[in-house]
Order: sequence, then C-alpha cells, then structure tokens
Amino acid sequence: MSYFRKLPVTIGEERKSGLAKELKTMDLILLGLGAIVGTGIFVITGTASATTAGPALILSFIIAAFSCALSALCFAEFASRMPVSGGAYSYGYAIFGEVIGWIVGWLMLCQYLLACASVASGWSGYLNGFLDGLGIGLPQAFRASYDLANRTYVDLIAVVITLLVSYLVMQGAKKALRLNSVMVYVKFGLIALFLIVGVFYVKPANWTPFAPFGMSGIIEGAAIVFFAFLGFDAVSTAAEETKDPQKSMPRAIIGSLGIATVLYILVTLVLTGVVPVAHLDVRDPVSFAMRFIGQDFVAGIISIGAILTLLTVLISMMYGLGRLIFAISRDGLLPKPLSKIDEKSHTPKNATIVAGVVTAILSGVIPLGKLAELTNIVTLMVFVIMAAGIIKLRKDHGEPKKGEFRVPLVPVLPILSILVCVYLMIQLSGMIWLLFVIWTVLGLGIYMVYGYSHSKMNNKNR
Ligand code: ALA
Repeated sequence: MSYFRKLPVTIGEERKSGLAKELKTMDLILLGLGAIVGTGIFVITGTASATTAGPALILSFIIAAFSCALSALCFAEFASRMPVSGGAYSYGYAIFGEVIGWIVGWLMLCQYLLACASVASGWSGYLNGFLDGLGIGLPQAFRASYDLANRTYVDLIAVVITLLVSYLVMQGAKKALRLNSVMVYVKFGLIALFLIVGVFYVKPANWTPFAPFGMSGIIEGAAIVFFAFLGFDAVSTAAEETKDPQKSMPRAIIGSLGIATVLYILVTLVLTGVVPVAHLDVRDPVSFAMRFIGQDFVAGIISIGAILTLLTVLISMMYGLGRLIFAISRDGLLPKPLSKIDEKSHTPKNATIVAGVVTAILSGVIPLGKLAELTNIVTLMVFVIMAAGIIKLRKDHGEPKKGEFRVPLVPVLPILSILVCVYLMIQLSGMIWLLFVIWTVLGLGIYMVYGYSHSKMNNKNR
C-alpha cells in the first residue's frame, strides 16, 4: 500500500524561486492585517456577542488569538524550511504522505469555500443594509439564506457577488489584489471612525451582565470568533521573501494577531456598550450600532467602506481557492481539467469556475453563523495536523538550519497547540461535527476511488 507515499521535497534546500528576500517585520504585519481583518470584525463581533458570550466576547478573542498564535508559529517553520507552494496541503503531503496530504488539501478546499462564502454573506449583509437605507431594499425572499421562519429563500446578493468575483479572478486578478494594501488603511480608518464616534455613546450599564452565558459561552465564543483570525497564514507563507525570518516571523505573527485582537476587543466593547447586546444579532452590526444612536451618516460611510474592503478580501480568497484546486489537480488527485491554464488569461479557468459556482451555492443558502462554524472546525483540524507535523518534521529531518525559522520549545508548543485546537473543536455543535465527518469521509472515498490511482506519484514510483 502506498497511501503514505511522500511528496519528494528536500528540506532546507535553497529555493529556486528567485524571490527577493526583502520583506521586513512591518511589511509582514500589514500583509497579515490585510488578510485577517474582514467579516470577523464587521459581523461576527456583533452576532457572537449577542448569541454566545455577551460583552465577555472580548475574552473569547484572547483565547482564539492564543490558539492561532501557536498554529502560526508551526506554519512559519514549515514555510521557512520547505521549498514548496501549496501551504499546509504540500507540508502534509511531504511529511505524513499522500493520504494525509490529500485530507489536509480536502479540508483546505472546504475551508476556503466556506470562508469565501462567509465573506460573501457578510458583504451581502452590509449591502442589504445600505440599500435599505436608500429605500431600495430587496424583497424579503432574496435578502438572506434559506430560512422558512423568516420567509427568506436565497441570499441573492451573496450569490451574484460570488459569481462576479470569480469572473474577475478568472480574468486575472493581479490588479484587484494590489488594491488590498490600500484597503488595509481604509479598513483601519473605518474602525477608527466607529470607535471615535461610538465611544461617546457607550453606556457602561450595557456591559452588565458581562458574561450572560457564563464560562461555557466564552469558550464557545472562542470557537466561533476563531474565524476572525484566519488569514494569518498569509504571513507564514511569506517566510521565503523575508529578510530575517527568524526574527521577523514571530514578531510579525504575534504583532498582526496582537493588533487584530486589540481591534476586535475595542470594537466589541464599543458595540456592546452602545447597543444592548440582545439587539446585536444583525447582519451589519457595526453600521447598525451607528444607526441605533442616530448617526445615520457615519453608518452610511461604514457600510460603503465595509462593502469595499470585504470585496477585496473576497477577491483574494477566491484567488487562493482557485490556485488550491489547481495545485491539487496538478498532482493528479483531482481531475486534470481543473489544472488547465486558460491560454488567453493565463489563469486556472476551470478551477475558478468550480470555486465560484460552489461558493455561490453555499453563500446563497447557508447562514453566515453556520458557515463560520464549519470553516472553524475544518481549519482547527488542519492546525492539529500541522502541529503534529512539526514534531514529525523535527524527528525525520532534524533541527532547522541557521536563518530558518524555528518553533521554540518543540514538542511542548505543538502539543499545546493540538490540545487547544481540539478543545475548541469540542465546543462546536453536533450538527457541525456531523457535517465535518461527512466531508472527511467523502474526501477519503474520493481518494480511494480516484486520487490514489490518478496521482502523479504513480509515475514516479514505477
Ligand atoms: N479573518 C477573516 C475575516 O474575518 C476570514 O473575514
């Protein structure tokens, strides 16, 4: 049986990519914040405080950030020691062998699909709110995902934007991706505006009870807001282009996660201080809070800003999703047409079409809360495998060389990372677990029936 055949990678090999090693800590922090801050701050801060943790959601953020920091360190060592693209999928393939690599890739596919759908859904929440403000809101049936009780059937705006973005990515999205760096500043401007205006309307009485759902609510909240930190692997994967990865990587990882945590805590404090928490389960809480205090103009600016910034987050995620499908197909584990490069646009067109259509369906029918929870469970599993991977990497290939990034205190930190991730996974509901198990078993089935016999490794092993 060669289910565990490994992707041949020379650990610590000098990279042939020719990428310039010029990124410094500050560049990496901005890169990280660009990828991290999105739907989480604009939507999940409100919904999760209303439904799981109350104002104590600020503690949930700290727990989730701690867990992400541990995983990010593991990602950074992989990124700086392994000369492969494809992220966790390739690391898993090279360290644990094909079947585990495939499962990681399969979970990442799910993660990206769901994360794209979540951002599209968050985007739709803000656009719907904005259109309502102009008095041209959509009919009820098309305003949100399928929910008979509320008489909504499909989130039409989320579907349309997903299809449009995948079309854009198919044409080559380099320009749009460049916009991301500008959008980081727009995002911060909006958040600052919200905090500065909102702080004058905070009523400390709204913070009591501080933890209406107790400790269990805080932990459950951590498993949900975990979503808000995803994207930090963008920092880890830039290890190759970093001047002094050993120093810059941990600083940038801790820096971007730390800044994001502070922002999330401040936004949650102001949101829950301005609006009684029970009212915050809406699709555009940050704008909603401004409307709540009669600041309609500021609410409008925040809506427009959120609409612009979330759009760039969606573009970069859709871009990543298409590339991931392309990479797995190129290794033979998914059908070949998915790695075909379009001659005109030089993009993986088929992969992007599949990514767009599946994301559109998901975002159209599943509510954001469930999308985010599902994203979290698959991501946490990938993090568990990556932490175990660091222990195996050290066992099989020894310590990192000078100039490469080293996770401190191996195996203690990776084991701690595994424990924290599993603990967070346990907080998620039975329904989410069921879907997770179904997705994983489906993945294994596809591998047995298709991937194993079509893998490019078959040619190498003969
Ligand atoms: N961290 C990303 C967001 O909050 C996924 O939108």
